[in-house]
Amino acid sequence: MLLQKGYVTTRRRIIIAGLILFLVLYVFTSWSEPAEDISCHYLEVDDALPSADDYSFSPSDKSIFFHETSCTANLTSRQSCAIESAARAHRYFEIHVLFSSPVSEATLHESNLKELTIFDNIRFSRIHIVKYAEGTPVADLVKSGALNRTQWKISHTSDVLRFLTLYKWGGIYLDLDVVVARTLDHLAKNWAARESNTAVATGALAFSRDEIGRSIATATIREIQTNFRGDKWGYNGPGVITRVLKKMCTTNNVTLMSAAYCGGFEVYKPEFFYPIKWQQERNILRRAS
Ligand SMILES: *[C@@H]1O[C@H](CO)[C@@H](O)[C@H](O)[C@H]1NC(C)=O
Ligand SMILES: *[C@@H]1O[C@H](CO)[C@@H](O)[C@H](O)[C@H]1NC(C)=O
Ligand SMILES: *[C@@H]1O[C@H](CO)[C@@H](O)[C@H](O)[C@H]1NC(C)=O
Repeated sequence: MLLQKGYVTTRRRIIIAGLILFLVLYVFTSWSEPAEDISCHYLEVDDALPSADDYSFSPSDKSIFFHETSCTANLTSRQSCAIESAARAHRYFEIHVLFSSPVSEATLHESNLKELTIFDNIRFSRIHIVKYAEGTPVADLVKSGALNRTQWKISHTSDVLRFLTLYKWGGIYLDLDVVVARTLDHLAKNWAARESNTAVATGALAFSRDEIGRSIATATIREIQTNFRGDKWGYNGPGVITRVLKKMCTTNNVTLMSAAYCGGFEVYKPEFFYPIKWQQERNILRRAS
């Protein structure tokens, strides 16, 4: 009798512990990976912005590009700040903000976009990704719906788009959380920056229209064409530039990569663009608050 009672409580405890574990895992996974909806990329309604899909869009060779790939059809204050800082530091550059979602006339006049329209070098455009990729090495990949099937739809779309844009037009690409403190015009013509001793990052890239820029732009877009992976987060972004540079430079050692080793393509130290490791961000915020 006693033995049986002990057995029952143990079983009950195991069941309760199991339930709690299940709940914790459920809450954690649904919180850390919200389902990403990118169906807006394929919408053709309510499009107030000019299209960047065809050759009527012809950016200057002094252009900075941003991509907005979430479906908010708006900009957060932080994103607006990044765009404004780039526009202020580069008066003679065109600052292109490319939306993957439709932006309506109403949004244009009510949202954070309105504040940025006072800068005459900022241009908003809409891209329809399938059309935007036509005639490029990733046309079939995009058309096949690969970006609908990845685990990180928004970031993988953003990964593909930055390389695609630099392949199509050449110029500078910046993430929407990069605040420009000094003009980038004094840097080399073609560059990326390391984020660690093992990886080159893709939050800020410059592939110009010269031979070096064209060759890295072609190599990176071909790398995506052949090796795109929907199941690995960093594979299509930092992974692409790091793998391509390992082939292009005369060293596999990321810390040694520089114009001298990489045929004129400059690789800056983490201090230039990534002074804070993303893994440390929480600690620093905690210390600051
Ligand atoms: C856009 O975002 C800003 C800042 O978050 C907000 O104040 C504004 O209401 C939004 N506008 C629209 C049209 O969603
Ligand atoms: C991706 O999914 C959306 C629906 O969410 C669909 O409208 C669109 O056609 C799909 N795109 C491709 C290229 O298959
Ligand atoms: C890369 O080069 C640096 C500097 O010479 C050296 O300290 C480091 O050990 C090298 N790393 C590898 C993986 O060889």
